[in-house]
Amino acid sequence: MANIAIFVSGNGSNCENIIRYFSGNQEISVALVISNKADAYALERAGKYNVPTAVITRAELADESRMIALLRQYGIDYIVLAGFLLMIPQYLIRNFNRRMVNIHPALLPKYGGKGMYGHYIHEAVRAANEKETGITIHYVSEVCDGGEIIFQARVAVSPTDTPDDIQASVHRLEMEYFPSIIEKVIKQ
Ligand code: GRF
Repeated sequence: MANIAIFVSGNGSNCENIIRYFSGNQEISVALVISNKADAYALERAGKYNVPTAVITRAELADESRMIALLRQYGIDYIVLAGFLLMIPQYLIRNFNRRMVNIHPALLPKYGGKGMYGHYIHEAVRAANEKETGITIHYVSEVCDGGEIIFQARVAVSPTDTPDDIQASVHRLEMEYFPSIIEKVIKQ
């Protein structure tokens, strides 16, 4: 059994979608959801499916022996970042080399890096009059949003789309593709 830990900070719609996708799977299981926010809605979503959860502070995330012990306790083989807003420490990137993936709601390398998260991304896409946007699923490396790209999907942006509209169409792509790409990464 390959065990996944999903790291979240907020709403958790991707987290729930991934949990659902793998529920009943004999080879891959979501074994833990980790949040840096005690009030993240993602934790409630995980609770609905009886997936164990842990809340960690920024200091705990930086504490290698503590985090590695937590991940070992649940036999974690893969880490999925699904809306996790803290920087990932070096030791975790090293330990989970090619076993940690992130989803970014734009077509990297465009609209990535510092300050590019959530609504800021879709506002920037609108302001630049982009004709298309999309999602990028990538391995996590030392460069923020710069790890090797695994998969991208595109969607058209029409001139009348608001940032909210853009967010909605990007969200549809996330729901459609993220779980099956995670599965491919694990099974390759
Ligand atoms: C998603 O747009 C994801 O691409 C980004 O953070 C957002 C998380 O949304 N990294 P949710 O918490 O899964 O609803």
